Amino acid sequence: MNLLIMGLPGAGKGTQASKIVDAFGVAHISTGDMFRAAMANQTEMGTLAKSFIDKGELVPDEVTNGIVKERLAENDIAEKGFLLDGYPRTIEQAFALDQTLSDLGIELDGVINIEVDPSCLLERLSGRIIHRETGETFHKVFNPPVGDYNEDDYYQREDDKPETVKRRLDVNIAQGEPIINHYREKGLVFDIEGNQDINDVFEDVKKVISSLNN
Ligand code: AP5
Ligand code: MG
Repeated sequence: MNLLIMGLPGAGKGTQASKIVDAFGVAHISTGDMFRAAMANQTEMGTLAKSFIDKGELVPDEVTNGIVKERLAENDIAEKGFLLDGYPRTIEQAFALDQTLSDLGIELDGVINIEVDPSCLLERLSGRIIHRETGETFHKVFNPPVGDYNEDDYYQREDDKPETVKRRLDVNIAQGEPIINHYREKGLVFDIEGNQDINDVFEDVKKVISSLNN
């Protein structure tokens, strides 16, 4: 099964993606995670990506399209299917993805669109904490780690500072509409109510994916 998961920064793409991967065994391809790994390893691409990400801007399309194309061509994809998270994020990326999938002979099965009220996103992003060892994402209030936890074991993303979040939201709101319309025209979009508890969102996501499986 080959899926996209879309939604504004903080909508819960990564949170739902990790549940989808556990339940359905698809490969999780997150362009944000790929850039953060490259930044941590201080590669040339990582340094370039950092100069955009820290300002809340998008990394240029040619860089982003290149890493996704390479990843989709790897052997595990044909076998497991994929869940693309955070890509495409411009209409040009959507066209590039169409071309890449057609070159590889892969069909997209659905686009999971997590809809949220933008006013809740600042709170979601400013409270997000990530476990250093496992990379697992939590929220100080909405999804805290179980039991007493040591704050030093968790970190906050650099681009979750309020001033950067505002720019990220503006950029993503401006770019998002044409992309969703592109997939709506193909009849691939499934809208999910994202303003509910994480597990309730996942129940709705599972219903969509199960309907695609049959
Ligand atoms: P990326 O890493 O993709 O970030 P994003 O799209 O801004 O989305 P986030 O990861 O911040 O949010 P999410 O939807 O995954 O939410 P999460 O599940 O963590 O991209 C980062 C940057 O990389 C971009 O700004 C750009 O610069 C660059 N980039 C990446 N892809 C690119 C591309 N294609 N082209 C160009 N540049 C690109 O949840 C957030 C918080 O809320 C968590 O704490 C979570 O616990 C909590 N939460 C989740 N669901 C709920 C719920 N239902 N109720 C309450 N709390 C919830
Ligand atoms: Mg994410």
